[in-house]
Amino acid sequence: MSDDQLESGKDVIAGLSAEQKSLPPKYFYDQRGSELFEQICELPEYYPTRTETAILKEYSGAIAQKTGPCEIVELGSGSSTKSRILLNAYQDAGYPLRYLPVDVSDTMLTESAEKLLQEYPAMSIWAIASTYEPALNALPPKQLPARMIAFIGSTIGNLQPAECEAFLENISETLEVGDYFLLGLDLQKETSILESAYNDAQGVTAAFNLNMLRHLNRQFEGNFDLANFAHVASYNSQKKQIEMYLESLTAQTVRLEVLDLTVEFEMGDRILSEISRKFSLEEIANSLSSHRLKVVEIFTDTEQRFGLMLCQKAS
Ligand code: AVI
Repeated sequence: MSDDQLESGKDVIAGLSAEQKSLPPKYFYDQRGSELFEQICELPEYYPTRTETAILKEYSGAIAQKTGPCEIVELGSGSSTKSRILLNAYQDAGYPLRYLPVDVSDTMLTESAEKLLQEYPAMSIWAIASTYEPALNALPPKQLPARMIAFIGSTIGNLQPAECEAFLENISETLEVGDYFLLGLDLQKETSILESAYNDAQGVTAAFNLNMLRHLNRQFEGNFDLANFAHVASYNSQKKQIEMYLESLTAQTVRLEVLDLTVEFEMGDRILSEISRKFSLEEIANSLSSHRLKVVEIFTDTEQRFGLMLCQKAS
């Protein structure tokens, strides 16, 4: 077992041994999980991706005008689909292009960087295969007048509140005064819309959630029987977050050999596999400003389902 696995195994042991069992959402994203997530983004009920893409299409020109020539660091760049909308806006404005994608998957980074270099021959790319924190600490010196860190897709909603605050502080410390931060956020709305987005009719989100157990079986020689667990997702209106669980359909014992871990489940026991926080623009603006990130402009759709906030590092 690699150090990485040992390290990541500790979070599984801690999560499954706690009173409220939980697992870190990073275990969603093996190859199958990443494919299922891409399918989720296309679902009729899952509005965030579509809505954010439409906002980007409408306002990326305005964003480029606000920032001027600017290099773009994208956290969680994936296949860089949405980034192309931004890159096109900077290209159309006649600005030089420098793109620094950060993603944990080096295969994804290499494949997408090769494609991007063909599509934007004048662009320079500095790709970083890493989780966010080490990447932020290892950014190369700025080569254009400004830098913008883009964290879109509302992935910030998958962080616990304390992690979110630490993350914003890290962003702020990484930026120089005058640099930019572009943040995509899913906004608070009616429960029925939210719950449908995480309980789609085709069962893709259920498959995505259950796939986490298959991933653990493979990585840690586990014997989770996927037929003995069910996907549950509901909106916690007090905490303003979707909570996704894997619910045990029977009393059962599960073993993860590599971790030397035995886990007992009663029927109805739940593992919290993800939170997806839904934000109010006002609250997040306050939180951003407490980290010296001043909101320059907010872009939303007409129904205010999703928000894109352009912030600037203040002194
Ligand atoms: C990646 N993240 C923003 C998604 C979300 O909506 O919180 C993950 C997801 N989980 C279920 N559906 C999508």
